Amino acid sequence: MHSFARHRPSRAGKETQGLIESGGWRYDLTGWFHDTFSFRGTFRELRQRTATLARIQLEDAVLDVGCGTGTLAMEVQRRVGRAGRVAGVDPGTQQIARARAKAARRNVPISFQIGVIEQLPFPDQTFDVVLSTLMMHHLPAPLKRQGLAEIARVLKPGGRLVIADFTHKKERAGQAARFHAGGSRMQDLVALVSDAGFEQVETEEMRPPRFSAFPGAGFVCAHKR
Ligand SMILES: C[S@@+](CC[C@H](N)C(=O)[O-])C[C@H]1O[C@@H](n2cnc3c(N)ncnc32)[C@H](O)[C@@H]1O
Repeated sequence: MHSFARHRPSRAGKETQGLIESGGWRYDLTGWFHDTFSFRGTFRELRQRTATLARIQLEDAVLDVGCGTGTLAMEVQRRVGRAGRVAGVDPGTQQIARARAKAARRNVPISFQIGVIEQLPFPDQTFDVVLSTLMMHHLPAPLKRQGLAEIARVLKPGGRLVIADFTHKKERAGQAARFHAGGSRMQDLVALVSDAGFEQVETEEMRPPRFSAFPGAGFVCAHKR
């Protein structure tokens, strides 16, 4: 299994101001239920699109921040191949335990660690790509800034960042407005990403399919200078 050198010791979830998930297998079960019966496969599509927008290459080193139970990291591992390296961090101990169990079951070399976006446990310029799905709305604004600075630190020059998040609750209509999770205003994320020293910042919208309760999502893609 590939291992990434530790920059600083991992921190426990209670040390973050972010909203920690700790469902483990229950998180996966609920996600599967929503995706199958309410969202018509959009969760799965969102993760695939995140990996595609990052233009992941064989041999890339990729970090998934707020990786939850590791579903996106598994998809990324398939794309980077055995010569690539994939890591995931999340403060939720049950999320990381579940992610490790899934990786072990599939015999894939992914390094999952308990960690937080505001203090990533990696040296400077470790990764070609950093990804984050459905995580930004779990953070208060100052933590988003701090986290994006950390992402810039661990990315190599020219490295790619792709953030996917639900659209903001106030911008939803119909069934989607009833979905519990909040979200992000894409223009706010763009400003934060630009302030953190990224360039070529672009967005893409993912509209909810018809007759779906999916709240809608957006992607922000950028390059480190
Ligand atoms: C809705 S889940 C998304 C998980 C996964 N990315 C996915 O797409 O299924 C949000 C995740 O952000 C994590 N999180 C909360 N605060 C965090 C922080 N400070 N740093 C990193 N992750 C955090 C939570 O523990 C949770 O697993």
